[in-house]
This record gives sequence, structure tokens and C-alpha cells, in this order.
Amino acid sequence: MAFEFRDEWIHSYRVDGYVILPQVLPPALIRDLRRATVRSHELARQQGGPQAQRLQPVVGQFSEAELKPFQDYLTLAPLVEAIRRILSPRHTLGNGNCDRLGLLLEPAAHPWCTPWHRDMRETTAGAYSGRTTVPDLEEFRRVRHDPLMFNQVNCPLYEDNCTWYVPGSYLRSDDLPAEAGTLASYPRLDDATPDEQREAACLAYCRGMPRAVRASMNAGDFMLYHPLGLHLGNYLPDRRRVTLHDYAPCPEQVDWISRWEKARNGQGPPAFSIEPPDMWHSPLVTSWRISRLMPKSGDVGSAAAVGLGDALDWTPIEADKTGPGQSMVNVHRVTGDADGIAYVGGRFRVDRPGVWDLLVGHDGGCRLFVDGKSVLCEPVRKNPARPDRSLATVRLEAGEHEIVCALDTDKGNGWGLYFRFRVHPESRADRWPFPVAVG
Ligand SMILES: [Fe+2]
Repeated sequence: MAFEFRDEWIHSYRVDGYVILPQVLPPALIRDLRRATVRSHELARQQGGPQAQRLQPVVGQFSEAELKPFQDYLTLAPLVEAIRRILSPRHTLGNGNCDRLGLLLEPAAHPWCTPWHRDMRETTAGAYSGRTTVPDLEEFRRVRHDPLMFNQVNCPLYEDNCTWYVPGSYLRSDDLPAEAGTLASYPRLDDATPDEQREAACLAYCRGMPRAVRASMNAGDFMLYHPLGLHLGNYLPDRRRVTLHDYAPCPEQVDWISRWEKARNGQGPPAFSIEPPDMWHSPLVTSWRISRLMPKSGDVGSAAAVGLGDALDWTPIEADKTGPGQSMVNVHRVTGDADGIAYVGGRFRVDRPGVWDLLVGHDGGCRLFVDGKSVLCEPVRKNPARPDRSLATVRLEAGEHEIVCALDTDKGNGWGLYFRFRVHPESRADRWPFPVAVG
């Protein structure tokens, strides 16, 4: 039966965040694409080992002649028209080329599945743990639920039942409690786990997600989905899979992805600027000690005053030297997604008594202690951590002082802190020596 567009797909995509167009690719194009990709498993496994799940991009992997059917796919008239109607005339399959187009493949050896995930979050957590990578948080909050801003494409050349999706989840920023529970139950499988047990554990994990649906696709179907909705891939070695993986972006998505990839690789400008040190602002303090994670009751305002002399297994921690969190004391690197209070402390020598502003950048809630006395409490989490977010003004006498910051790790959403001194305005009659870290 010839492919015929149905208006209801526009509605489905905007409500559910995904839609499957049946049988868009004609059999002749499926045949050409299958022939062109016959070496894809061999190539992917040479490059990524027996469990390799994708070959991407196809550019550079195949000859010009082999890439010809991909061009036919990009310009397939009914597909171009369907994208125009579901998204807009400004959206183009593959952005008009094969630069990002990849092939999703079955593993050679063992069943496995990815964790449930959204491709982008304000801060990533769980099994895809990493720092916040969105290049512009304000912009991200504006556009993340826009059905026209982000999309991805799966187009199978053989029957493919690997993708699972939670309808409507792209319209929410946070996971529901039951969803978060499933996210945390990702099966831990080791090499000794028999394949049947792996297969069953992965399937149970997929099915454990409330309202999850499995995208059942035949050769030549075309799935358009919003990648900020909850989704995963579940893979079996005995089911041949060659699925074109692509996107159909508008120019704004192309621009966003380019900035996002730079931020992920630590190449882009940070999402905020750090004022350079000057005569009134010290450099950021980068050497500290960190306690073991302590249990919390309530918010960080209840965190007990502790000192470096207390038996909390203090260990040295250095701020990140590169990447988007440059100069941040990355507590998450130590505590992971655990919930509790991490204390970060140091001793400082003050040569001349005076009034100082203590500038603390933090994402999780924080409480600051100077010589065991609370001088600042800001319990609200704000991601990402930015330098100089909170301020405590204190008088420090000449001699040694202990500064300890309690950070609420907030189940892995509190990542870390920045700290520096500023000469308080009333002490600016003269150039002032900054306190010096002494351990
Ligand atoms: Fe994904």
C-alpha cells in the first residue's frame, strides 16, 4: 500500500513526543540501503568491539557510490513532505546531508540495554552521570518542551523493536517518583551473567517504567521522537538490526547542538564568566579537604558545625583544572549521586585584621562556618553552580582561621562550589593582603 500522510500524526507527535510513520521507505530503497550497509557490523565491531551498537557517522565509512542510497533517503519526497507537515518547512531531514547520520546495530555477543534517559537535562545524573552540559540554561528552560526544537529519527531497514519511550514525558522537566525509582534500578550485569538472565533483567527494566511503550517497527517505518522524553534501547544479539539514526532539525537546533557539543567537550565558553582576580578579589581557592558524606536531616540549615580536627575522614580535593566547571571544587566527583552533606574545609592565615567578604559559588544548598560559627546559610539549590553566588561578611583577626562549607549533595544535583575572598568596601582604604591557605 502506498504511503499516505495522516493529519493525526501531527497531534500524536506533539502530545506523545513520538510518532511512527509506517512504510515510508519503498522496497527498492530498502534493498539499496541494505546492500550499501552490508559491511556495517564488521566496521562497527572493528572500531568498537563486539558489543558496538552504532556506526556513526556513515560519512567516511563508505564509498561515494555506497552513500548514494542515503542521498535518496534524504530527498525521498513523501518523507520530506511528512517532516514539513509534522514539524515545519524549516525542518530538513539530516540537515540536508549525511554528516550526523549513523547506523544502529545489534550487538554480536550479549543482550544489553541502555539506562532510561533524556538526552539533555539541566544536570545529568544516574547512569549517564556528568556535569551540566547545556550551553545556556535560560535558553534551555525556554525551549526544552518545544516540539519543534529537538528531534531524532530512527528508520529501520529490518524489523526493529529496540526503542522504548514514555509518551508525553518530554513535556515534563522532572521525573515522577515512580520513574526516578525505575531509573535507579538499572540492572548491574557482569560478564558471568548468562545471556537469558541478562535478557530477562533488561526486559524487566524496560517494562518497569510506568506507561512505557515499545516502538514496534517494520522495515521502512520511520520514527520521529523528541529526545528529551524518557527513552532507552534494548538490544538482542540474535535480531539483525540496521536502523538509520538521524535528525530532522531546524536551523536553531543545528546551532544548539553545535554549542552543546562544544560544552560537553569542554571546548566552549563557560555558561557564565568568572570575574578575574583583581586588587579587591582573590583568585578562586582551589585546594581544600573534603569529609566523608554525612547523613542529613532536613535541609543544609540543619548541618552541624564541624572542624578539620573532627574525625570525618578528611581527604585533599583540588578544583577542576579544565572543562566547563573549571576552578570548581567538584564534590560530585567524590560523592556521586548519593544524598547527604559533604563538608569542604581549609585553614587560612590572616596577617592583618579586617573585614572580608567570603564569596561562595554553589549549586546545592550551602552553610558556611568560620571557626565553627555559622556565617551563611543558603539552602536553595540552583543549577549550575556559579562563582560568587552567596556572600558572608566577617571580621577576621590576625592569625589562623578555619573555613568549612557544608554542601547539600541533593541526590547528585549538588555538584560543588567555588570560593574566594573579597576585600570588604570598608577595608579598601589600603591595599589588603588576602588570607593565605595553610592547609
Ligand atoms: Fe538517547
